[in-house]
Amino acid sequence: MPDEILYQSGFGNEFATEAIAGGLPQGQNAPQKHPLGLYTEQFSGTPFTAPRATNRRTWTYRIRPSVTHRPYEEIPTKLIRSGPFLEVPTSPNQLRWDPLPVPKEKTDFVDGIVTLGGNGDPAMQLGVAIHIYAANASMEDRFFYTADGELLIVPQLGALRFHTELGILEAVPGEICVIPRGVKFRVVLKEKQARGYICENYSLPFRLPELGAIGANGLANPRDFKAPVAAFEDRDGDFRITSKFLGRLWSAVIDHSPLDVVAWHGNYAPYKYDLALFNCINTVSFDHPDPSIYTVLSAPSNVPGTANCDFAIFPPRWMVAEHTFRPPWFHRNLMNEFMGLVIGAYDAKAEGFVPGGASLHNCMAGHGPDAETFERATAADLKPHYLANTLAFMFETQLVVRPTEFAMNARILQHEYFECWQGLKKHFKQTAQAKSKKK
Ligand SMILES: [Fe+2]
Repeated sequence: MPDEILYQSGFGNEFATEAIAGGLPQGQNAPQKHPLGLYTEQFSGTPFTAPRATNRRTWTYRIRPSVTHRPYEEIPTKLIRSGPFLEVPTSPNQLRWDPLPVPKEKTDFVDGIVTLGGNGDPAMQLGVAIHIYAANASMEDRFFYTADGELLIVPQLGALRFHTELGILEAVPGEICVIPRGVKFRVVLKEKQARGYICENYSLPFRLPELGAIGANGLANPRDFKAPVAAFEDRDGDFRITSKFLGRLWSAVIDHSPLDVVAWHGNYAPYKYDLALFNCINTVSFDHPDPSIYTVLSAPSNVPGTANCDFAIFPPRWMVAEHTFRPPWFHRNLMNEFMGLVIGAYDAKAEGFVPGGASLHNCMAGHGPDAETFERATAADLKPHYLANTLAFMFETQLVVRPTEFAMNARILQHEYFECWQGLKKHFKQTAQAKSKKK
């Protein structure tokens, strides 16, 4: 077990890595006979015929091919849900939740997944599921993959080590890890407890957003994304693979670790990113820009400019706008906004939105700063101000996020959320001139 985790740098690069010299064939993908006795297996994340710029596939050289397992049998999904999300009616109300408590009984990463809501349908490869995970145990003899989507994992409590088919990655709170659709992995907890958020993206994989007038650099820079180097387990035993397939969970017996890829090359691989490296761009004159400037990753839909899901962050940054109401303005949007908080406080909410908690503002639901924040921001001395100790994020998605039955009935739902806006007073005063015009 390496102490220091090694990575390859770049977003969606054509990586090439071998854990043992000679593991990676040269000059061809599928030699008649591999010199180390490895099996060749291609693993694709897009159709074979996808345009070159978006085509994703990886060639793996492994101890056994992926097909060597016993048949899958269905197992309970516990609190994992998938689209279509039709358990309970979806109201137009603003919703907010307290953090999900970490279970007391032994719970690994997969058993600790609880779905708060989602949209679309994995069978249509459209939409997302939004989960919280809360765990206290590592996965040693159990492996997991989802055929329903890629997993964007946002740790909030406790560091995680992901042992994947393509190598090992670690993510601490403040970093993210993305596991592509189909990649098998197990999660080792680096601390006693772990909690965080997951966006299960049923649609096209996340990519870096276009930069438009920003130019060639900025926001999340490609070289700061880290893919693992090849690392394999040559381990026999009584193991289980859990598969998430069309919303149901299935378990198969396997007599060896499926993390047995000795070498691989390609551009379909897990990756991590340190959100502290996000090059945050904002106004240096006036007005609060649209939150799209905070987009780290974007999973497109088929409609230009309309994301199946954008992942945006609100990191520590300077606030310098002149003669401006600096927090987010009041707004109603077509897009649907699920927010989480990793660290500290969020600048639009004085209280109630805490690390590990979540909020949901669906299509056309009015929202914005709470009454306390409004009063403070309208009276603030507009000197340059550094917003420290904060890291909020948003999964912004084109389709209404439909909460699960758990999300609407759990104790963590804040039934009093609406009250944070009730103190917004009427400040309107008609001037003498306006009054006379009205007459
Ligand atoms: Fe919003």
